[in-house]
Amino acid sequence: MTRRGRFIVLEGIEGAGKSSHLPVLAEWLRKQGKQVDVTREPGGTPTAERIRQVLLDASQSAGPPMTAVTELLLMFAARADHLSHRILPALSEGRHVLCDRFTDSSFAYQGAGRGLPLALISALESSVQAEHRPDLVLILDLPPELGLERARKRGAADRFEQERVEFFARARQGYLERARQMPDRYRVVDASGNVEAVSTALQKALADWWSQQGD
Ligand code: TYD
Repeated sequence: MTRRGRFIVLEGIEGAGKSSHLPVLAEWLRKQGKQVDVTREPGGTPTAERIRQVLLDASQSAGPPMTAVTELLLMFAARADHLSHRILPALSEGRHVLCDRFTDSSFAYQGAGRGLPLALISALESSVQAEHRPDLVLILDLPPELGLERARKRGAADRFEQERVEFFARARQGYLERARQMPDRYRVVDASGNVEAVSTALQKALADWWSQQGD
């Protein structure tokens, strides 16, 4: 399938502000005449949204906690559906896709956070996604203490939000390490400031990147 649209992903630990910034960023792009589809992971299709419910269920009422490998495989199960039924069709029709989290979340949370081998995640990435990778990953970066403080103000915590600050500190380092390894495809934006400051920084990072793309 030929990809004509751009695949842009917003990443960050809990409380980084992705959910507030995603619609603003989409609106800003639409004002420039671009067609934008907004979606999220885990989720984005009916099947993947059902898998999401299993993944985020904080009660896990029916038994012992989910293993890290189960969690990882469910993330990729949801991703396989999302990629083939939503992301790739949109890109091939020339729409740009703005996605709240993608495979970098698996590297940061299941890899750096839970300690699963990065080689296992890379193997799943190659099998499930073939050559498909985001064109740009915008990482909203902030100290985990601040992120958790913001996230707690939102109310009931899901299974991931109940993790301790050390987990998110590892996840944050996981993101930053990937950004260091692949600087062309990653932009790190300071998310510790107020909404306007972060929004301006995000738009600038995206505009600078786009101006280098030759369209
Ligand atoms: P979500 O409500 O989207 O979290 P947030 O608002 O903080 O973005 O829930 C998604 C959760 O799933 C989030 O805690 C991160 C986690 N996640 C993974 O652990 N691995 C993954 O590959 C993805 C896509 C998400």
